[in-house]
Amino acid sequence: MVVNVESMGLLGMEAFPVKVETDGENCLPSFDIVGLPDASVKESKDRVRSAIRNSGFDFVSCGIIVNLAPADVKKVGSVYDLPILVSIMCLFGYLKCDISDSAFIGELSLSGEIRHVNGVLPMAIEAKKRGIKNFYVPAINSREGAAVSGINIIPVRNVRELVDHLRGKRIIAPQPHILQEKIQQKYNFDFSDVKGQFEAKRALEIAACGGHNVLLIGSPGTGKSMLAKRLPSILPDMTFDEIIETSKIHSIAGILPDENSLVTERPFRSPHHTISPAGLTGGGTIPHPGEISLAHNGVLFLDEFPEFSRNTMEILRQPIEDGAVTISRVNASFTYPCSIMLICAMNPCPCGYFGHPRRACTCSQKAVSQYLSRISGPLLDRLDIHVEVPPVEFEELSSEEKAESSNEIKSRVDRIRAVQNERFKGTGITCNARITPMLLNDMCPMDDSAKQTIRDSFEKLGLSARAYDRLLKVARTIADMDGSEVIKKVHIFEAIQYRTLDRKYWGGRS
Ligand SMILES: Nc1ncnc2c1ncn2[C@@H]1O[C@H](COP(=O)(O)OP(=O)(O)OP(=O)(O)O)[C@@H](O)[C@H]1O
Ligand SMILES: [Mg+2]
Repeated sequence: MVVNVESMGLLGMEAFPVKVETDGENCLPSFDIVGLPDASVKESKDRVRSAIRNSGFDFVSCGIIVNLAPADVKKVGSVYDLPILVSIMCLFGYLKCDISDSAFIGELSLSGEIRHVNGVLPMAIEAKKRGIKNFYVPAINSREGAAVSGINIIPVRNVRELVDHLRGKRIIAPQPHILQEKIQQKYNFDFSDVKGQFEAKRALEIAACGGHNVLLIGSPGTGKSMLAKRLPSILPDMTFDEIIETSKIHSIAGILPDENSLVTERPFRSPHHTISPAGLTGGGTIPHPGEISLAHNGVLFLDEFPEFSRNTMEILRQPIEDGAVTISRVNASFTYPCSIMLICAMNPCPCGYFGHPRRACTCSQKAVSQYLSRISGPLLDRLDIHVEVPPVEFEELSSEEKAESSNEIKSRVDRIRAVQNERFKGTGITCNARITPMLLNDMCPMDDSAKQTIRDSFEKLGLSARAYDRLLKVARTIADMDGSEVIKKVHIFEAIQYRTLDRKYWGGRS
């Protein structure tokens, strides 16, 4: 007799259905798994055998063969333990119920407990698409699947409970669904803590309004990291689709917190500068998402930017531009989305005090230029807004007055994003920073004096074509904030001002 049990597998971002077919023969005892299982799937035999015995059932001596279909796709991980166990329990006659509209995933412990697996959310989405009615998942990840409506997510803690449920003895209640309207977004950091720094705050507000990348340059302790950490708190609330997309990536990486099943706040990822290129973009035989994808729909903050290795920095170039990173392996390529705002922070020189108003810089000119040259022209080009973060004056720092709160700034950002949503309706573009080259001229009309100003600066600053495009998009955002449909000279001026720092520090290399 052949028993079929449905399950789900993962390949990159995509979940796919896996059918576990199990056949038994009255012959010498054996237990084989076929269908391109990797080592972790093969080990499942021992877990399944022990889990069955330790849950109070006999493991019947016979020849067992398990096939994981489709047989030409590699199966990885311990997620198939549970469906293999269920199929064997059916084969042995311990379970006689109809499970044709159910699917199972979960890792087993030797004692029959069901353990955490990665990727429950994308699998639940796919299971629902495939018409599965009951999706049995480890109780510990069951809240992940609860965002998907129209499918029963059944949390199982151990084999005994599952058997009782399937025999109709003790029914397990499905996980209640998460209601979209109940999702609240709150951040731990607030801009009201940051004294002074009006220019830097203005720059970050522009960046938040248009989704632009920022480079913060300043001496130690001036508040660069502090400012960057507060950026997510002024970004617009995540839409439900964005929540699901980002949560899917976190689910695959296995980092969704158990108590909160979805990523409901814009991610802020701040990897250490010792991170490898694969850690940033994703890697492994079946690649795992990297930091850049974990920051999807949020902020990737690279603190102490020049300390990152050259390879790590340069690998960012294509993903920043495309909003997705593709990793190729011999038999497949995997694409993870990474629509991020990149914020980089750095000191202006190795000692940190180059250009400081009160402290002398102890670095030689050569040391300063060597330090700055770690950031390549193409990368600098992609950072739309360069802003200096000067030391805060004592009066400002010691004042009791609270600065403007994140909520107040966010309400302005929301207004500007609404203007952009109207402008980009039906184009798939989400914000000014993502205007495609084809639409650039239509979306960024300029008056004559603005055109003249940008023409003059193009030559004077030696801008690249990309820097020109990006400058225009920043000017578009500034014009939006000014309530103007047409980009004027003042808007261009302000946008150019955010590109003049590369002249000061890098001698206008970009
Ligand atoms: N504008 C400010 N208002 C209030 N506190 C500030 C401000 N700037 C800095 N601080 C205080 O100084 C601390 C250090 O700031 P922060 O870590 O952001 O500096 P940094 O510019 O990132 O320095 P480094 O270059 O060494 O990384 C903050 O945690 C905060 O307590
Ligand atoms: Mg810092």
